[in-house]
Amino acid sequence: MSSRAASLSGALPRHVAIIMDGNGRWAKKRLLNRVRGHEKGAETVRMVVRATRELGIGHLTLYAFSTENWQRPASEVSALMILLTRFLNSEKSELLENGIRLEAIGDLSRLPEKVLNTLDHIRGVTAGNRDMVLTLALSYGAREEILSAVRGLAADAAAGRLDPAGITEADFASRLYTAKTPDPDLLIRTSGEMRISNFLLWQAAYAELFFTPTLWPDFSKEEYLSILNDYAARERRFGRTGDQLTEF
Ligand code: IPE
Ligand code: IPE
Ligand code: MG
Repeated sequence: MSSRAASLSGALPRHVAIIMDGNGRWAKKRLLNRVRGHEKGAETVRMVVRATRELGIGHLTLYAFSTENWQRPASEVSALMILLTRFLNSEKSELLENGIRLEAIGDLSRLPEKVLNTLDHIRGVTAGNRDMVLTLALSYGAREEILSAVRGLAADAAAGRLDPAGITEADFASRLYTAKTPDPDLLIRTSGEMRISNFLLWQAAYAELFFTPTLWPDFSKEEYLSILNDYAARERRFGRTGDQLTEF
């Protein structure tokens, strides 16, 4: 562990989720093609995965491609898919060496076959890893995820397997892509946009939000650690009063 990481104090989140935004603007500022921004952004992904693992945080979820991102120019979408396949192949040994399990959430059926095969392969070989779960949100949209959970519940109710009046939060959550993952404690978005963009709408109900103007390719380990320090200093009340918290 680096000395920087060792200087972290206070509670660590169990699950960090990141909206990795700003690759295109990073490239534009340099008069480069947007794809160069995505390539540089992949280096930040590598750094964040490593730092998260070093710190012993159990879950990292990265928003890599949204359902809405399919509307981008075909050339950008296909470059992103190629980059993703390349990234997965290049990270395989590091994931294995560091006990990291790869997961993916989203409507994966829309991904090109090559991406899906690579994803399936790496999910398979890392399935037994226990030290950290790296989840990529790919072709992910929270509204779609919620709708598909609702359809499942409605079908069960219509078939008489479920009493609609008895549906619990746990029943609902168990039908989301994230059924086996704890809710994110900390949600970071880079690039200065103050929005959620259809990410983990149900799961982030009580996440601590952190927005930074830094563009994703410029996001550094130092900034990540300083956000984690900021997180540790926050009081998470979950609707209670501050005084109630100290009584526990
Ligand atoms: C985030 O960077 C990566 C993806 C959404 C795939 P953007 O490509 O959205 O970068 P900006 O927002 O245009 O700068
Ligand atoms: C959100 O970024 C999706 C990902 C980071 C994958 P976008 O760049 O697509 O979001 P908007 O369009 O600015 O809301
Ligand atoms: Mg963007």
